[in-house]
Amino acid sequence: MSDLLQRVRDLLPESYPWPDLFQYFPEVGSTNDVLKVLAKQGAPQGTALMAGAQTAGRGRLGRSFQSPPLSGVYLSMLLRPRCAPAQLMHLTCATAVAMCQAVEETVGIRPGIKWTNDLVWQRRKLGGILTELGLSPEGWVEYAIVGIGINCATPDFGPELRGITTSLEQITGQQIPREALAAAMLTNLARMSQELTAQRQAILHQYRRDCITIGQDVSLVQGDWVRHGRAMDVDDQGALVVRLPDGTIEAVNAGEVSVRGMYGYV
Ligand code: BTN
Repeated sequence: MSDLLQRVRDLLPESYPWPDLFQYFPEVGSTNDVLKVLAKQGAPQGTALMAGAQTAGRGRLGRSFQSPPLSGVYLSMLLRPRCAPAQLMHLTCATAVAMCQAVEETVGIRPGIKWTNDLVWQRRKLGGILTELGLSPEGWVEYAIVGIGINCATPDFGPELRGITTSLEQITGQQIPREALAAAMLTNLARMSQELTAQRQAILHQYRRDCITIGQDVSLVQGDWVRHGRAMDVDDQGALVVRLPDGTIEAVNAGEVSVRGMYGYV
């Protein structure tokens, strides 16, 4: 058994329901992709994978997520909620709140959330969340995979991302124990999965508090079509409620639209 796997398991609280379903791989393509294969083979709820590095880490809207060796926590968890996809519209929001909590418990700072799925600190990206659903032929949720990447150390992400990303080491000036962060992420994901339906309103209330996009002027990017507006709220489905210049109000969906600040990434 790898050292890191054992150290994470040792740090999980007694109440953590799935310690034996956590696995660690030094390197994979994408933890979401590996977990998707396991999900289709019938892996149970709570199966979780962490990788030391990803060679094909993926982000939302087909983007890549840079995952250099030992520089972040790259982790995915499999959930099997028995419901229709419409009841899981807030899953990414719930995961984001759980990850803010995990970071706060581990390092003592609470990141903000850039709608819908980015963890940010002082206008820079600290991490991201990729949620993927598998549906049965009848349209029910067969599995949900929540994948999270959080930058711990600060490698040079190259000119494209320089000035846009940050890391917990950069923020705190301290080395971050990845195993402690991973254990806190797993613990908060397990709690989130138990509260997802019953605590929906409380989760969304906390999401709105953590979300730095609300109240900002934003650009809505949909392919080549760019519109501007003011982000007013996040609705109960997790959609961003935007007031457009002509006064109309539109709820934009995370699957379709990418949101940027008017003058940069946030
Ligand atoms: C984004 O920035 O749009 C989301 C990034 C999500 C990255 C995580 S890392 C673990 C999991 N595996 C992946 O390939 N992606 C997610």
